[in-house]
Amino acid sequence: MSATDVRRPYDRYALGHTPQEYERLRTQARTWEAATGRLLDQVGLAPGASCLDAGCGPGETMRLMAQRVGPAGRVAGIDVDGPLGARAQAMLHDAGHRQCEFHQHDLAGPEPVPGAPFDLVYARLLLFHLPERVAVLARLWDAVAPGGHLVVQDYDLRSAGVLPGLDSLAELKRVIVGAFTAVGCDVSAGARLPALFTQAGLGAPDGTDVAGRLEPLASGGPLFQDTFRSLLPTALAHGITTEARAAATLDAVSHDASRFADRPLLWPLLIGAWKRRPQA
Ligand SMILES: C[S@@+](CC[C@H](N)C(=O)[O-])C[C@H]1O[C@@H](n2cnc3c(N)ncnc32)[C@H](O)[C@@H]1O
Repeated sequence: MSATDVRRPYDRYALGHTPQEYERLRTQARTWEAATGRLLDQVGLAPGASCLDAGCGPGETMRLMAQRVGPAGRVAGIDVDGPLGARAQAMLHDAGHRQCEFHQHDLAGPEPVPGAPFDLVYARLLLFHLPERVAVLARLWDAVAPGGHLVVQDYDLRSAGVLPGLDSLAELKRVIVGAFTAVGCDVSAGARLPALFTQAGLGAPDGTDVAGRLEPLASGGPLFQDTFRSLLPTALAHGITTEARAAATLDAVSHDASRFADRPLLWPLLIGAWKRRPQA
């Protein structure tokens, strides 16, 4: 089965639903574990608290939440991708986190967030994907209990790349940015979080955070290539590249990753913002 076959006709999610993409999400989540844990600790997630991971994907952040709220707490994950969420719940239960539950739900739809209110509502790399991000943010804020927090982390892709630049990486980034943009993603959603908070009626965030990662091209390049592979059906559908050009790009990046193995690769910045809902 090709990556194109698992793209559902109504599905505008740019990255698709392949096993390879699910594994990429897990690897990416582990990369940002410390940056996310820092924000969870910043807002103070107490034992026994209730929390929601909106757009939970493989459930890695649900695990961080479960470790903090303990068995008396409640951790809900919501995602439009039911099979991915069901696997996340099974993985969490196997690891002993029985307080975790998953609900399939389209956060871009008109229905309120199920299970609300929560002491913490968290979303990472979700608003980036949703053209209706302001409305979704307002709905997530409505799901925060009085005295609770909303925490959002999202990418800004502008900084991603190597220095000195390489044509192969520039082409990889052109296709990635083009494919995301073609389906209504905001590739600078992270930097726009304060503006989004204001547009959604929350007012300015109480705080912001910027996390980065710089690593040798030899180790960082493959994850960029995996992102490109997941996006390829979207890029082809929108005429951003061709099968032949995409194959040549991937070959060129592999070649450069061997030739310039130590060249520093800067990841997209992961930008966070949070806000506390006043006590009723
Ligand atoms: C890039 S992944 C991030 C997953 C996870 N938050 C993380 O950081 O590891 C985006 C997730 O949002 C989910 N998603 C996209 N659109 C959604 C929607 N309208 N409602 C709920 N989830 C959605 C996708 O299925 C995917 O699991």
